[in-house]
Formats: sequence, structure tokens, C-alpha cells
Amino acid sequence: MNPIPDRCSSSSCATPRLKTQPSCLQGGCGACVVAIQEYDLANKRWVYRSVNSCLKPLVACHGLSVTTVEGVGSERRCLHQVQKRIAENHGMQCGFCTPGMVMNTYALLKSGGKPTAEESMKNYDGNICRCTGYRNLVQASESFCSDASPEAQQLAEKCGAHDADLCDKLSGPEHAKMDVPRQSVSFFKEGFAWYAPMSLEEALEIKKSKPRAMYILGDTAKGIRQAAYEVANGRANDVISLRNVTELNVLEKTGTGLTFGGALTIQHLVEALEQYQEVHTQLQWPKALADGLKNVAQHHIRSEAGWAGNLLITIQRGFPSDLFPCLLAGEERCGTMIGAVHGSWQRLMRKSPSSPATLGMRSAWH
Ligand SMILES: Cc1cc2nc3c(=O)[nH]c(=O)nc-3n(C[C@H](O)[C@H](O)[C@H](O)COP(=O)(O)OP(=O)(O)OC[C@H]3O[C@@H](n4cnc5c(N)ncnc54)[C@H](O)[C@@H]3O)c2cc1C
Ligand code: FES
Ligand code: FES
Repeated sequence: MNPIPDRCSSSSCATPRLKTQPSCLQGGCGACVVAIQEYDLANKRWVYRSVNSCLKPLVACHGLSVTTVEGVGSERRCLHQVQKRIAENHGMQCGFCTPGMVMNTYALLKSGGKPTAEESMKNYDGNICRCTGYRNLVQASESFCSDASPEAQQLAEKCGAHDADLCDKLSGPEHAKMDVPRQSVSFFKEGFAWYAPMSLEEALEIKKSKPRAMYILGDTAKGIRQAAYEVANGRANDVISLRNVTELNVLEKTGTGLTFGGALTIQHLVEALEQYQEVHTQLQWPKALADGLKNVAQHHIRSEAGWAGNLLITIQRGFPSDLFPCLLAGEERCGTMIGAVHGSWQRLMRKSPSSPATLGMRSAWH
């Protein structure tokens, strides 16, 4: 496996050569989904989430624990309840999507709390199945929920109790072996370099010494552009990951608004806005903005992709962003201050009036 992501190909992404399926290689189908555990620098806690492994370069997995469907359970060792309930409920036919489906529900359960039936259903927004028609799959997930339907409850009773720690018993608790990121790291191979600095100063220094180096955060834009690192026409040999940059992991909630650093993901924004709404019940815009942002892509992408990256590809490549009109409406309607890196917000605001598409989207919000 080539650890350096010079192209969006199955040989440079983190999709393991196991039962996890590489399929579209664009973050669109969910067949390659794996669960990761990582330290969330913005919220200062360990989190579980599902990601499209086809878009995640192997080097970006440094310091993370990655669980594939093999780590969850198997017929030989013992099936996890997620696997058992999908199988019992005829939630698979050809089986191509099944590893991704299992990992989708597994990551939801591992991310804490007991999901509601609605949450578990919405959690399918990033996984495509061409055979089952979803009903049996959704019911299998619903059987873990606090408000499961009578049919889903029957399935749970038939399959037995859910042992939330089974995976840990099978493979050991991964997070116990991991450290909070504290040091900058870099990887080099065959002319390609990957830098993951911890400070803004260091990131800017690297950029100064290597002007053609490309900043990335979620590295998901290659999924829609069908080519990796096209800033240098596919030849950006040096990549600077902003994920661990302390100054860009700022998430501030004050009485007058929210400030998001440039290393925050779209999911960070959604969660922060929802929490802000709970505290500031007299306001209406935080929930409206969060609901709008939930329409961007699907949850595997939202938890990897940065809001800043979305604005950057909108400015640089004319990407028809869904995030931009949401932020634009937020800016207009509630005076929310969005802290943008490199003046991207201002540049976008200057560009937007001439775009009929933007104006159309803008009026749709009024
Ligand atoms: C399957 C799929 C579905 C999608 N669906 C939607 C959708 O429905 N609606 C929508 O609006 N978008 C959608 N997107 C686009 C997605 O939102 C963007 O790919 C994502 O937001 C880009 O963020 P990133 O962190 O991954 O950027 P990256 O891929 O890491 O970088 C993209 C660009 O931004 C620059 N950049 C990134 N972060 C910073 C920063 N902090 N400072 C300076 N420069 C930076 C990089 O240099 C690069 O030029 C989809 C993407 C995929 C793959
Ligand atoms: S292979 Fe389709 S989302 Fe990764
Ligand atoms: S079971 Fe065939 S694609 Fe889902």
C-alpha cells in the first residue's frame, strides 16, 4: 500500500484490502466505510466516527485507531449484534454494501448515547444499497434505539442483548493505546511529502519554504474533483495537513456569537450551533443554520470536511456549494461572525453578487 496520496486511487487511500469494499472512490457510496477513533482537538475529547476510507490517505491515519468490519466480529470468533441483526433481518442480498452498512451503524453506537429511530434512519444518508430497499437494514439499526418500533424490538429480542463492549473484548480498547497529538509529524516517500504541523507558525513556515505545497484538511475535495491535489495540476508533491494546528482548532461560543477556526469540520459547526440553540432559546437562527448545514453531503463527509475547504473550492473552482448560501443567510439574518482563514469569506462576499445562482439561493432563504 502506498502511504503517500499522490492520486485518488485505491493504492494510496486507507481502504484496507480486507472485506471493506473500494467502489466509487469518491466518497459517494459508503461501501468503504470504516470507524475511526481520534482525539478531537476542538472539543478536547476522544470521539468515534465513520469515514469514507477511500478518501482518507493512509498517512492521515497517523495517531488514529481504525476499526474495519473484521475488527467488529466474524462468524468464526463471534458476530457483533449489528452484524447479527442485519443478517437475521435479511438486510443483505449481494453483500457488497454490507461491510460499510455494518460500520455505519457500529460507529453510530460507539459514538455514545442511545440513538433515536429517526437518527438511526438519517444515519443512512451516506450508504447506498442497490439490493435490499433499505427497510430491513433500517429496522436492524432501529432495534438498538430507545424508541424502536414493535417489529424492531422483536428483532432485538430474537437476536439477544447488545453487548456494547464486544469489540473491545475482541480486539482490546484501541484508545487505550493512543496518545493525544502533541507533536508535528511528517512523512516522505519517493518525492512526496506530507506534513502535519501542530502550530500555525510551523504551517506557514513550511508553506514559505515550499510555495507549491497544498493545504488540506479533510482532503475530501478530491472526491468531487476526481483528481487529487489539482492545485498543481495533480503534481502537488507537498501536502500540509491543517488537522492538528492548534490555532485553527478554535471553537468559541460567547453571548454574541460563535467563532470557528479553519480546521473545524462541517459537523463541528452543526453540533456547536445545536448546543448554542439549547442555551440561547430566544434565538431561531442557530437551529436553522444547523439544519441547513445538515444538507451538505452526508454524515461521513461532514465529519471529515472543513467549512473552510468548502468555501475555498467555491472561490477557486466555482463549486456550487450548499454551505455558502447557509452561511450567507446566517451572516445576513443574524449578523453571525464567521471567522474565515485567508480572508476567504470577504473574497466570496465580493464575488457573490455577480452570481445568479447565489442570488437565487439567497432569495430562497428569505
Ligand atoms: C461525496 C461528496 C459529496 C459532497 N456533497 C456536497 C454537498 O452536497 N454540498 C456541498 O456544499 N458540498 C459537498 N461536497 C463538498 C465538500 O463539502 C467539500 O469537499 C469539503 O467541504 C472540502 O473540505 P475539506 O476540508 O475536505 O477540503 P480539502 O479537500 O482538504 O481542501 C479543499 C481546498 O481547500 C483548501 N483548504 C482546506 N482547508 C483550508 C484552510 N483551513 N485554509 C486554507 N485553505 C484550505 C485546500 O488547499 C484545497 O484547495 C461533497 C463532497 C463529497 C466528496
Ligand atoms: S468507495 Fe464509495 S464511498 Fe468510498
Ligand atoms: S446488498 Fe447488494 S448492494 Fe446492498
